[in-house]
Amino acid sequence: MCGIVGYTGSKQAAPILLEGLARLEYRGYDSAGIAINDGDKINVVKAMGRLAVLCEKSNGGAAAPGCIGIGHTRWATHGKPSDANSHPHVSENGRIAIVHNGIIENYASLKEMLVNRGRVFKSETDTEVAAQLIDYYYNGNILEAVSRAVRELEGSYALGVVCADEPNTIVGVKSHAPLIVAYSDDGNFFASDVMAVISHTKTVTYLEDDEIAVVRNDGIKFYTPFLDEIKKEKCIVDWDISAADKCGYEHYMYKEIMEQPDAVRRTIEPYISDGRVDLSAVLDRDYVKKLNRIFIAACGSSYHVGVIAKYNIEKLARVPVEVVLASEFRYCDPIVDQNTLVICISQSGETADTLEAQREAKRLGAATLAIVNVEGSSIAKSADKVIYTKAGPEIAVATTKAYSTQLAVTVLIALYTAECCEAIPDSEYDKILSELLSVPEKMLKILDDKANIQYLAYQHFNNEDLFFIGRNIDYALSLEGSLKLKEISYIHSEAYAAGELKHGTISLVVDDTLVIAVASYGRLVEKTLSNALEVKARGAHVMGITTESLKQKVGAVTDEIITIPDTHEVLLPSLAVLPLQLFAYYVALYRGCDIDKPRNLAKSVTVE
Ligand code: AGP
Repeated sequence: MCGIVGYTGSKQAAPILLEGLARLEYRGYDSAGIAINDGDKINVVKAMGRLAVLCEKSNGGAAAPGCIGIGHTRWATHGKPSDANSHPHVSENGRIAIVHNGIIENYASLKEMLVNRGRVFKSETDTEVAAQLIDYYYNGNILEAVSRAVRELEGSYALGVVCADEPNTIVGVKSHAPLIVAYSDDGNFFASDVMAVISHTKTVTYLEDDEIAVVRNDGIKFYTPFLDEIKKEKCIVDWDISAADKCGYEHYMYKEIMEQPDAVRRTIEPYISDGRVDLSAVLDRDYVKKLNRIFIAACGSSYHVGVIAKYNIEKLARVPVEVVLASEFRYCDPIVDQNTLVICISQSGETADTLEAQREAKRLGAATLAIVNVEGSSIAKSADKVIYTKAGPEIAVATTKAYSTQLAVTVLIALYTAECCEAIPDSEYDKILSELLSVPEKMLKILDDKANIQYLAYQHFNNEDLFFIGRNIDYALSLEGSLKLKEISYIHSEAYAAGELKHGTISLVVDDTLVIAVASYGRLVEKTLSNALEVKARGAHVMGITTESLKQKVGAVTDEIITIPDTHEVLLPSLAVLPLQLFAYYVALYRGCDIDKPRNLAKSVTVE
């Protein structure tokens, strides 16, 4: 939700900011803008639409001279996308310019106070209120003005602030929104995340809530809200620029689909030794034995991982699992005690709904475990324990490799919990673990055989409505298949538990309706096929997704078929998700959609 970046150093700022914004565009792409201090005054260039419009308007940054500036890419909340509502926002007198990620919840009352004191506003945004408020408190020292103003802000914010009268200084401050600062030989930075600066430096510091950073050419200083100076650690980021680049692929999504075998291998390896899963560093064995319940709270695809995890953990460990949408968790009065584990799953580690669910779980006295991809993110920092997925930076808005790595972690948790609770025979445990280790190789096989999936996508890309059906884990996976297709191809689709379709929704099935039957789960395949026959009898065209060994049985009912290698049932979704991702990708490609940046979406959803 919005990306912010700032630079001060020996080089011209605008091109550096535009490059940083290009790497942050996945956070929002309704409009973009930069504010450059030319040593005398602040010049703002901003434009509605994609960053390319701003690049053209500013001549790649050449039109905006100056070595200090801030930039923003927006996902609109307050006020529709427009030039006026684009950031940076400037105080009425042009002295203060700010960029903002988050929502200032009390902006209306602050605005009223400022209007009553004669301030005039140009936009509908909450951010302009913060710019005017900082200017209102400005008395010759920008650090003091920011510290004074933010005490009045409620909500979430990461702010970058420049002041015309102090041409060597950027002030950054955050509360419930991510902010880092970074150091290089040619100057220093602040940004929403490491991605924005990775081509310049790997040395960063993560800010905590309410801390203030003063970024100058010659160094960065940190302060408490009441301006006591504090020391903070520098960290070295452990991935490089190629992880954030397309590396010749047309789309990040495709690159990230292809990276899944390695990502899964990297994620599981640290937790497996001597033929056992060892999560004791994050989950104490005695604690696990006493668990009365596990909650999983997450959003979107991460929630879908939770739905599969519920089936697998309950099946293997016989511990009850409830999966709750993170946005509902706080409001569902969850029954939680010290023997309840709340697992929050999040790629970004910044999803506001998930972060709030985790806070609520802690408030209620549960232990919290986060499964997170981004190190140093808010959810990772506020959880009792963290398991990091090692997917590397995921840039396409539609998640693929993060989903697969999260799923693999939940299989580790299922196995470990089952062993701690003495609920699984050794032979079964060994079989699953050995199959888990072979998932990367089997994924490679599916990726190599993708021509059939591409062909089927070409056959069906003109459909406007379709259904995914499945039972048990196949149903849980259908939820993800449907979301993937919807979000990047804009085709309406629904995922249904196969047995549920006949209770109403089957009335939507007419001649040539495409129904994708995920039928990989051997125990229930006959049942799913009966449901496939029901829709066929009403004219539907059925595509099946199944395993090599079920191919004949499923193929006898369906009109066309995609197969995946055989594996243990617990791991079927880890393989079957690949054809679903590829199908969505190719359909979106044939429809000419903007695959990496689908309309209305942003990668990191930091508002509730
Ligand atoms: C998936 O493709 C989506 N982009 C979305 O549903 C995402 O999974 C959801 O917003 C949760 O994000 P998180 O994993 O970063 O918390």
